Amino acid sequence: MTSYVEDLLPGTGMRASRAWLRSSNPKLDLNGRWQFRFWPEPPTGPIADDEDGWDELEVPGHWVLQGYDRPRYTNTAFPFPIDPPRTPAANPTGDHRRWFDLPDDWPRDGAVLRFEGVESCFKVWVNGVEIGTAKGSRLPSEFDVGAVLRPGRNVLAVRVHQWSSGSYLEDQDMWWLPGIFRDVTLLARPVVEDVFVHADYDHLTGGGTLRVAVEPSSARIVVPELGLEFAPGETVDIPRVEPWSAEVPRLYDAQVVAGGETVDVRIGFRTVAMADGLLTVNGRPLFFRGVNRHEHDPLRGRAVSVEAMRQDLALMKQHNVNAVRTAHYPPHPAFLDLCDELGLWVIDECDIETHGFIYTDWRGNPADDPDWAPMMLDRMRRMVERDKNHPSVIIWSLANESDRGRNFGTLAAWTRERDPGRALFYERDRSYEFSDFYSLMYTPLDELERIGTRTEEVTVDDPALEARRRALPFVLAEYAHAMGNGPGGLADYQRVLERYPRLQGGFVWEWIDHGLLLPGVTDYVYGGHFGERVHGANFCIDGLLFPDRTPSPGLLELKKVIEPVRITWSDCLVVHNLQTFGTLDHLEFLWVEELDGVEVRSGRLEVPTVEAGVGVEVVAPVEAKAASVPAGSADRLAGSVGERWLTVRAVLAKDQPWAAAGHEVAWAQFQLVAAASPEQSAVPGAVVSRGDLLEVGGGEFDVRTGRLRRLFGMPVDWPRLDLWRAPTDNDNGQGGKNSATVEWRAAGLDRLKHRVDAVEAGQELVVRSRVAPDGLGSAVAVTYTWRAVADGLRLTVHVVPEGEWQGTAITPRCGSWPRLGVRMAVPAAVQNVRWFGGGPGEAYADSREAARVGRYACTVDELQTPYVVPQENGSRIDVRWAELTDAEGNGLRVEGAPYFQLTARRWTTEELERARHRSDLVPGDRVHLNLDLAQHGLGSASCGPAATADHTLEVAERTFTLTFREFGGQGPGTVP
Ligand code: GAL
Repeated sequence: MTSYVEDLLPGTGMRASRAWLRSSNPKLDLNGRWQFRFWPEPPTGPIADDEDGWDELEVPGHWVLQGYDRPRYTNTAFPFPIDPPRTPAANPTGDHRRWFDLPDDWPRDGAVLRFEGVESCFKVWVNGVEIGTAKGSRLPSEFDVGAVLRPGRNVLAVRVHQWSSGSYLEDQDMWWLPGIFRDVTLLARPVVEDVFVHADYDHLTGGGTLRVAVEPSSARIVVPELGLEFAPGETVDIPRVEPWSAEVPRLYDAQVVAGGETVDVRIGFRTVAMADGLLTVNGRPLFFRGVNRHEHDPLRGRAVSVEAMRQDLALMKQHNVNAVRTAHYPPHPAFLDLCDELGLWVIDECDIETHGFIYTDWRGNPADDPDWAPMMLDRMRRMVERDKNHPSVIIWSLANESDRGRNFGTLAAWTRERDPGRALFYERDRSYEFSDFYSLMYTPLDELERIGTRTEEVTVDDPALEARRRALPFVLAEYAHAMGNGPGGLADYQRVLERYPRLQGGFVWEWIDHGLLLPGVTDYVYGGHFGERVHGANFCIDGLLFPDRTPSPGLLELKKVIEPVRITWSDCLVVHNLQTFGTLDHLEFLWVEELDGVEVRSGRLEVPTVEAGVGVEVVAPVEAKAASVPAGSADRLAGSVGERWLTVRAVLAKDQPWAAAGHEVAWAQFQLVAAASPEQSAVPGAVVSRGDLLEVGGGEFDVRTGRLRRLFGMPVDWPRLDLWRAPTDNDNGQGGKNSATVEWRAAGLDRLKHRVDAVEAGQELVVRSRVAPDGLGSAVAVTYTWRAVADGLRLTVHVVPEGEWQGTAITPRCGSWPRLGVRMAVPAAVQNVRWFGGGPGEAYADSREAARVGRYACTVDELQTPYVVPQENGSRIDVRWAELTDAEGNGLRVEGAPYFQLTARRWTTEELERARHRSDLVPGDRVHLNLDLAQHGLGSASCGPAATADHTLEVAERTFTLTFREFGGQGPGTVP
């Protein structure tokens, strides 16, 4: 047993923690190719300096992503027996070694070896001399090594153990990824040991106060832009200063100078205060449009590059995100620099999560065991000291999901004393004793409403603590679980969050899918890939970005829902500035008027300066809008034309560091003229019988089954009723609980059988059918009515639920259907889709804010959303008409009455449902269409509430109509 691995010390030989500083002193970057040797169990004895036979690996990096052993993913479970602080005998260990040359001019008076992050425990030797040990994976550690360095060639050896006592504090829902995964640097011994900037802003006077604590106190501080030079500890009043905020991230460059060393710091003036039960910055309550961000790269794991960090932040800003919780550990320090620069509010979270103790009913939880207090406090201290100079960091989070524990009291007390200038956050102690916020995760809307009105139930027995908790502001630490297709309900959340001042916003779970690309594997890997018994499956594939950082439809929806500018038109056109500080002067407002999706006029809107929190009436470029937008209804007839829409867009007027001029920040659409619905009289002419075929309006039907065989000469299969969809992660609920899929399967919706009872030919063709699963008495009576109309064929589908949908003594009730529509197949030659309706991306009942009415075109392949785990996707809503054509532009046109929902894919729903990875989806010899009246909402039940009643597709009698027309080569831009 190697005692430093299992003891409760944070490390040995480490220097005191201090700020991450940019110094003019010499430094040596030790990243790059290192020698490496893997041991399935820790070897005995030190790392020898002279052996041959080493492999090579990249530092920063994780050996499990570079061909050694394998990565492990668990959500809550420890992948080893719970026996704190002991580790399993099989403790994968990586010996790392690197030779380096000390430059000739390297200062003689010492050196510091700095590791930004090593998972989970390591020992260091320099030139064969043992230097120290450290734990705390996502935290820096520094060692004095000056005494053992020699001129010229030196050798650095690092033994890294995957498991340690520290692992019991690192049970975050993510991959376990051992290795030296952040930078390694050799620094000349600093003169400026530490800097702590205190830069306050007085929103009443517009002045700032600056005090900088420095070690040593002989240093000088200069802020050239403000003409300041002063000594550490001195308080300098600045009569006028521009404040820092996430909206206007104004930074002042400063230098701290001592003994020939210059340290660059960037100062942001801002004051964080809890005032009147709310978190305020610079005197104003904040509202978080936040996301939870893990560090992830599909190839490099948590060894993310600075480019990827910048990309994350640019994407956040581009999608109107204004806050990030660094779930669930302090990020690479460069990330926080970028947050200061680009402007994000940050909750910096400590590297502590003991979630796996749920399996012992929290027996032995380190958070409540004073023996673990030093190790936990060490983590808090290392985070706070490292990150204390970032204006973007306004809240320290003590931990994630570690239950209640006395040690949090220790952490909170130390932090409040060390840094009274920031707020504290911890969600999982239901007394909230150590938190400045009341917070929950995945809270249902009705409970959120109660919290907003402070009428939530009592949660703490102690009346004083309960009164304190009730007076706290509320922040949703996590909500809207973005697993697979979803989250649904973002707009509903936003409405409630914006309604009550106590609710200061929330953080969507989570930013990016944690899929990994491993050598020799085509698809993204998630838990279970290696046949391991304990794993979290695809629960880490729950991000707003796909693993390669492509935005998912969920992120586009979020962008629309949280837009910081809202453009409304009830009596008049109003531009609302939902920001906290800035005006909208950085935006310009463009408008376009379209007739049936084709532009008729456009221009720029005159918008005066709009102060934060204010709405300003502007002159509309058109006279009036339609009284109300017609909802989808069956009494409208196909072929509607003449729809007029006004679209107003707020775009960046100038380039920003995170997006170019022209980038769209917000938009709104107003219907000016509703579609006219010309009555389409049926053309005279009865159904014609020809052998075993019946013909009507360009369709050829099987006389016996009533099945459509050909449509305008194109071979087709059906359409017939379809109620099923390939379940989404959110349909499936959490581990089968709260699962619509379970309810739907119990009702046999995935195994419906179709029986045709009558085929009646006359002026129209009527096919009567009963659709029902084996073993149950519930059924749907379906009547398909086909009738010839001018240039086409109209289908009306009437469905009547029959039997025991309400359940019986032994079968559960089935209250909803996944979808209601028809499914049909057309030849694989159909490859292009043009439509007028919602788009350009997929949309569902409770995730449709980002869809705007317009004309769109793409291929069938482009209609698919490539969820890492395949599931229902790609549906386009409010489609008035769609043209599905082959390479020559010939095919089919489908019209709704007025709308339908369109899905087209090269595989069946059943194939989609069976697929576990993208590559399981193989194009077949058909294109499968779903033409739906509606689909059930998405919800976020994979970890949260299901689709709400408003977005439930109820089991009920319904009628819908579709019109099919031949479409041939008229080319793009054809107005119907
Ligand atoms: C939360 C947890 C996250 C993640 C999420 C579900 O409980 O804090 O780390 O597990 O649930 O994906």
